[in-house]
Parts: sequence; structure tokens; C-alpha cells
Amino acid sequence: MSKEVVLSGIRPTGFLHLGNYFGAMRNFVRMQEEFECYFFVADWHSLTTHPDTKELRSSVLRVIAENIACGLDPEKVALYVQSDVREIAELYLYLNMLAYTGELERTTTFKDKVRLNPGNVNAGLLTYPVLMAADILVHRAVKVPVGKDQEQHIEMARNFAERFNHRYGDVFPAPHAFNYSTKLVKIMSLDGVGKMSKSENQMATLYLADDDDSIRKKIMKAKTDSGPTEHNSEKPDYIENLFTLMKLVSTDDVVQQFEAAFNGCSIRYGDMKKQLAEDMVKFMSPIREKAAAIQNDKEYLAKIMASGAEKARASASKTLAEVRKAVGMQYL
Ligand code: TRP
Repeated sequence: MSKEVVLSGIRPTGFLHLGNYFGAMRNFVRMQEEFECYFFVADWHSLTTHPDTKELRSSVLRVIAENIACGLDPEKVALYVQSDVREIAELYLYLNMLAYTGELERTTTFKDKVRLNPGNVNAGLLTYPVLMAADILVHRAVKVPVGKDQEQHIEMARNFAERFNHRYGDVFPAPHAFNYSTKLVKIMSLDGVGKMSKSENQMATLYLADDDDSIRKKIMKAKTDSGPTEHNSEKPDYIENLFTLMKLVSTDDVVQQFEAAFNGCSIRYGDMKKQLAEDMVKFMSPIREKAAAIQNDKEYLAKIMASGAEKARASASKTLAEVRKAVGMQYL
């Protein structure tokens, strides 16, 4: 039996951070052993909000390098750049005829982006979910690992697939959002305000590209307070976040030591942050160094990107042949 198809995309806007690593990339690395996987850099999507492409090249190469450094194996998965697979654009055109402007205008991310940037409400922004549906359906993917904020888009992709099948005949299986555990590891920003971000709140976000000193500095600046005054208190969320990070990168006995100190009201957050900073540096520096080495090896990158694109096009062109036939774009 053939394996189920998994697909996910990463926008090359800003820098990948620890939230991306533990929320997404670590799961991709696990999925590559079980499924037929397609992971790609969504460069067309980035044009909807970032028309200036000055930094696009370095961002795209960095995203590819960082994903490999985190454990994605380009032999096992198709790792490619969206714009290398023109079939996606063709499928996007067909799906656009099945998408209603009303539902697109009601999409949460669209409304958010209009509010944030009312000066650039382009049609690409409106049809962002259609392009995303094309990304997914072009490989007939059924499992799409994404964060909560993307779930509405997956639901829309499912609707477009159903509409297509209903009108033109069964071509697409129904895609679903997918993650291993219902409880995704959530990493808050170090100042306790929201999530870590690819482009905002940079002093409170740990980026995979951060050097050792920046990692230390950011962790030492993390929000704490004067400590609990009652035994076994509940932790404020910014303290819980430090423990979450510690559980991810420190040994069990270190975590237990600080848990006990918290519960006994003797915790010194300065000591905890120092320990966390060192363990985080130990965890992150090999990833950063590996990513940097890959990023500097343009020959290797070119090879990876070409082979990823080839795998993706092989799958996409099969789907498009069926799509054209189903729609009726075959005249002789
Ligand atoms: N919209 C996604 C994000 O901002 C990125 C993305 C583009 C994507 N195409 C996709 C994710 C297809 C999953 C499947 O995070």
C-alpha cells in the first residue's frame, strides 16, 4: 500500500525560531519516517504581504538550510521551493473559479491582514487560501501539519476539493490538519506577551540563527517575578514557559531540581535562567552551525533544490493531467 501524503509550507518571511522548531519542524522530522512527505518554501505566498524581494533569496536559502539542519532528510522528503513547481499556479487558476469572494472575504487571516495593512489589499491576499489549497491538492495530500491559525485554510482547501470533485468528478482526497499530539508544544515569547514571532518582538524570541551570546542575553532578560510565596503555587504563564523550555533542552534532574525549588518557594530565577541559557546554547549552537555550513554550500543547495523540485513536479504533473481531463481541457 502506498503511504499517505503529508504536506506543509513555510513562508520565507523573517527568521525561524524555537516555536517553529518545537511546534513544526521537529514533527516534520518524525513524519518523514512514516509518510510520503512534501515540504516547501512558500515564496509565492510571501509576495502577498512582502512585495519587496530584496531579502527573498537569502530567506529562501536559509529556510531550506535550517530545515535540513533540524533533521529533514532531502533524500527522504521532497524539499522544494513553491515557484519551481508551475503546476501549482495552474491548479490555483482552476480552484479560483470554485472559490467565492464572499467566503474569501470572511477568512480570519484575510481580515487580520486588511486591518494590519489597509494600503495593500491585493487580490493575491484575498485568494491566499486558494493558493494554499493548490499547494496541498497538487500532491493530493491528506495530512497537513499546521498551527491553529492555519486550520481555517485547511477547511477551505477541503471545501474546494469537494466542490471540484462534485462538479468535475473525483480527483482529490479530503485534506485534514494533522499533528501528532492534540497538545502541541506551545512556546511563548520570553516577555510573556504572545507567541515567539518570525519578525516581531525579536528580543523575546529565540531564533535558530541567534549566536550564543544573543541566546544568553535574551534568556537572562526573560520576564520573571519575585517568586512564589506559597508552597506548590500555580505558575504564572511566563514562568511556566521557562519550565517548558527547560523540559525541552535540560536533563530531567535539572528540571526536577528547579521544580522542587519553585514548589518550596526557594527558587532563584537568576540561577534558573543561567542554567537554561547554557543548556539552550548547547542545544541550539549545533543546529545553527550546521545550517550556516549548508547555507554557504551553494552547490549542495542547488542540488537539493533541483532534486526536490523534480520530485514535486513529478507528483504535480500527474495530478494536473487528471485535473485538465476532468475539467474538460482536452480537445483532441
Ligand atoms: N500559510 C502557511 C503559513 O503561513 C504556509 C503555507 C503555504 C502552507 N502553503 C501551505 C502550510 C500549504 C500548509 C500547507 O504558515
